[in-house]
Amino acid sequence: MNIRPARVDDLMGMQACNLQNLPENYTMKYYLYHELTWPQLSFVAEDQGRIVGYILAKMEEDLSEGDEPHGHVTSISVLRSHRRLGLAKRLMVQSQEAMATVYRAAYVSLHVRKSNRAALGLYKDTLGFTVRDIEKKYYADGEDAYAMRLSLKHLA
Ligand code: ACO
Repeated sequence: MNIRPARVDDLMGMQACNLQNLPENYTMKYYLYHELTWPQLSFVAEDQGRIVGYILAKMEEDLSEGDEPHGHVTSISVLRSHRRLGLAKRLMVQSQEAMATVYRAAYVSLHVRKSNRAALGLYKDTLGFTVRDIEKKYYADGEDAYAMRLSLKHLA
């Protein structure tokens, strides 16, 4: 399985993967905005030419006062057939490295459903993210989100 930076012609495959795996979906315009604005930060996992996982990531644009430049994971998912092979970890690590080296990101942030055991295992146990906040009713169906972050200062 190959991990490589996403290209514009991957976006349909990434969107298809997202639609299969998550209730949070995005317009093609939003995928394109990520790819054209931060082309170094999104990656795909490919198996024999088919996209089986992706990370869609960006630099945060709305910084509050005193906040440091930081990356944000908009969405990550891996097809069921390809889970527990370490693909999500590799996608996260590649994007985190690019955030730090290309954009000098101080940290990476993301939101995750409180009930998402697999993703919480990945973020907390494997990658070392910590919970910064609970955002009540963050999701359209009313579920709360954990706002999580991981320092990237050691990579800069
Ligand atoms: N249960 C518990 N821990 C898990 C699980 C699970 N089902 N899956 C992964 N993990 C943890 C483990 O610690 C694992 O390490 P280990 O295999 O050595 O025990 C570690 O994460 C790394 O696992 P990977 O193999 O890299 O993860 P995978 O490629 O299977 O993808 C993902 C994980 C992305 C969460 C996948 O299950 C998925 O696509 N889920 C549906 C979509 C989703 O929930 N995406 C995240 C939403 S939040 C966001 O997008 C910002």
